[in-house]
Amino acid sequence: MSNPFRPTFGASPRVWAGREAVLSDFDRAVANGPGDPHRSLIVSGSRGIGKTVLLTELEDRARKQGWLVVRASGREGMAQTLTLSTIPETLSELEPQPDRKLTGFSVAGIGSVSSELTEEAPPVPRLTSAMRKLLAAITTGVLITIDEVQDADPADLSHIAVAYQDLVRDDADVALAMAGLTRGVNRLLDLPGATFMRRARHYELGPLTLDDAARTLTQTAFEAGRSFTPGAAEAAAQFTQGYPFLVQLIGYLAWDTSSGEITEGVVHGVRQEAVERLGTQIHQPSLRDVPPRQREYLDAMAGLDGPVVETSVIAKTLGRPLSAVSDTRSKLIERDLIMPAGWGRVAFAQPYLGDFIRSHRGPRRIS
Ligand SMILES: Nc1ncnc2c1ncn2[C@@H]1O[C@H](COP(=O)(O)OP(=O)(O)O)[C@@H](O)[C@H]1O
Ligand SMILES: [Mg+2]
Repeated sequence: MSNPFRPTFGASPRVWAGREAVLSDFDRAVANGPGDPHRSLIVSGSRGIGKTVLLTELEDRARKQGWLVVRASGREGMAQTLTLSTIPETLSELEPQPDRKLTGFSVAGIGSVSSELTEEAPPVPRLTSAMRKLLAAITTGVLITIDEVQDADPADLSHIAVAYQDLVRDDADVALAMAGLTRGVNRLLDLPGATFMRRARHYELGPLTLDDAARTLTQTAFEAGRSFTPGAAEAAAQFTQGYPFLVQLIGYLAWDTSSGEITEGVVHGVRQEAVERLGTQIHQPSLRDVPPRQREYLDAMAGLDGPVVETSVIAKTLGRPLSAVSDTRSKLIERDLIMPAGWGRVAFAQPYLGDFIRSHRGPRRIS
């Protein structure tokens, strides 16, 4: 049996851990009908915490209730792409099926959607009318998902928000799910025009409980024909610190190095490899463009004891007043490398980032 673990960004896990509240709220909202407040939601969290696969899972659940899904990314012109390509393409893929009643809408006319919606028309009416056409072609609803929303142009996002609200006002069957990095999402929520965003249900994804992590490891292996000893599952879960990417990674490596039952010894044997792969796949790319000032801050932080560090101690280590380093702190939070950990304290945003920095110090600069 091939390895059932999937340590790849965006790759949905075979076995889900946690996140039940988001999933069940959403299932109910889709079933409930227009106007349910859980039909618009924002998921935020750090890199590798599971935002993208959660959006994918929400999409699957909407599809199970017969809905269509249109996907956008905050990294491109969302309103434009939805209007001119994603929605028309979705429409043209709709074929009359016995279980999907077409409501007097001519499928032959679909090809004209993008040409009717000329570029000169303002984006909101264009998007609203494209969505109306799509909704008219089905008897169910449409879910719009937006990933990497932290990178979205606020004006573009507000076009989507206004179009969405127009549709909600008309009692259309629509839902909107967005996901992005914590700081970026919070910045969007603070914008003056973001009332709509603030009304959406907001879920901040944290680490999984260690029980959930252990259960997922055991169940994923079990469904593929192998077992973890209870001690091995516990040791592996402990190692992951509840970080979903690491759950998949340690599972993957443990599966690969053993030929039968996965024991505690196997788990211990692959920990080092897991930390190294985490480093090359996640830490290294995210540190690549960090400017010197920020890097110094990270180096100082990594050199101090403990997972949580006082910012005043970091400032002292750097030989600068606290006020002089607060801008650096803020930029590092924006980059999702560190996170606030209570008043005046910070922690690394991903597990083992401190270890990675300690073992990859750049050459010392000598004056
Ligand atoms: N709830 C979960 N249960 C099990 N594995 C998960 C879960 N959420 C995420 N993962 C795994 O973690 C990794 C990162 O997920 P992803 O959604 O790409 O993170 P993000 O978009 O937040 O950076 C993937 O390998 C995915 O399979
Ligand atoms: Mg993602």
